Amino acid sequence: MRTSRTSLAVLGVTAALLVGCSTDEGADPGVTWHQDVRPIIEGRCVNCHTSGGIAPFDLTSYAGAKPVAELIRKVTEERTMPPWHAGGEQVYVGNPSLTDAQIATIAAWADGGAKEGDASKPGEPLTAVGLTMSRSDVALKVPEPYTPQYQTGDDYRCFLVDWPEKEERFVTGFAVEPDNKGEVHHVAAFLLAPDAIGAAGAMSSLAELDAKEAGPGYACYGGPSGAADLVVPIQQVGQWVPGQEGMDFPAGTGIRVPPGSKVVIQMHYNTDFVTPGPDQTQVKFKLDKPADISKPGAFAPWLKVAWLGDAMKIPAGEKSVTHEQSGDPRSFWKNFIGDVKVENGFWVYGALLHMHTLGVTAETFITRKDGTKVTIVRTPAYDFDWQRMYLLAEPIRFEPGDTLSVRCTWDNSPENQIVTKDGRAAPADVFWGEGSLEEMCVANLYISEL
Ligand code: HEC
Repeated sequence: MRTSRTSLAVLGVTAALLVGCSTDEGADPGVTWHQDVRPIIEGRCVNCHTSGGIAPFDLTSYAGAKPVAELIRKVTEERTMPPWHAGGEQVYVGNPSLTDAQIATIAAWADGGAKEGDASKPGEPLTAVGLTMSRSDVALKVPEPYTPQYQTGDDYRCFLVDWPEKEERFVTGFAVEPDNKGEVHHVAAFLLAPDAIGAAGAMSSLAELDAKEAGPGYACYGGPSGAADLVVPIQQVGQWVPGQEGMDFPAGTGIRVPPGSKVVIQMHYNTDFVTPGPDQTQVKFKLDKPADISKPGAFAPWLKVAWLGDAMKIPAGEKSVTHEQSGDPRSFWKNFIGDVKVENGFWVYGALLHMHTLGVTAETFITRKDGTKVTIVRTPAYDFDWQRMYLLAEPIRFEPGDTLSVRCTWDNSPENQIVTKDGRAAPADVFWGEGSLEEMCVANLYISEL
């Protein structure tokens, strides 16, 4: 967020210089906004870069785009926009990354003086990519309007909501309708089923957290249990980042939700670009009956239990520290995936990698009995603000005898410390925890029965 402000300031100077240049209005207009660039921007950028959107400026018009032409060229050439953090050999659903040809078109446009062209003859729009949910059956709102508490920066807030259905249902899709779009940065929903081991205690602990704090909800950074480090039998049912409207879960799969469940809505607000205002975001679910589900599924977290103690030490000042967990996850998952049957193996449809702000790269992969490595998701340049589910175009089958790994690398040098209201933090030995100065390393896989 801070770097984008700096570059905008630099850009003001560049734009001022450009105004003085004369442009050649010859017969061939060359690369122009309406014919060449607008179709790319409308297909890949304006879902975020619109007025009142999450991104810092509006790219829906020539007037909005022209002054930032040079910056658009820079971020597309560097491939930092549109945001996409999965690398590696796999193909994912809804990848918005630009092609080399599209990047070259934008560069040629910026080089040619960012010409407007003829508005009456716009180019063929790109087909938008991205995931959407096909039907909404239940919508749950943040229970009362909530206004983020800081004038700038991040506020993480969790809200405990009752699940309204009276019969057993399977969640087969998830979407979010952000209310105050300028400040809603990302959203996750978690499920606590009454029949999970330890559920009664966890439910009352979360209700206590909620009751203890003034205002709606309770503060929570790393997960739904706040800073309390409760190990609750709670599983993720969906997550959302800007630009990713929602998704249907892979056909035939779904997550079982018994009546009497609770949902935790975890909101991440950021008010660097806007004045904090009330928000009452909705999370939406597509539901199906048990008879419609052939492969019960779950979000299954993979991590090392010893990390919850002191085994995930990230020493103060070290530039590169890696921890890895490898093994067969199936017995560990008993507490997380309910009655999803994985005795003979399971399907993996995708994953979300989670660390905090010291994280630089993360990866989750399967190693076959013969040593072959199959990447599920790899993030070569991890960014805490852009954590999302990467859904594979083709699922990967885990067979008994395979191992599943999650590997995280952190940078705990002085330059990479989090900047808070009190300035840049000093490096300290960091261990596992939910707090913003603690770390995590989790691969959250969406899996199903075979
Ligand atoms: C998923 C939402 C999203 C999409 C899609 C997106 N952006 Fe962005 N963009 C952002 C956000 C948010 C920021 C603010 C900085 C940040 O958080 O990374 C940003 C920042 C920028 C910046 C300023 C960078 C800086 O260094 O100051 C430019 C330029 C930009 N985007 C251009 C684009 C272009 C061009 C596209 C399409 C090819 C695009 N963006 C697609 C969300 C998006």
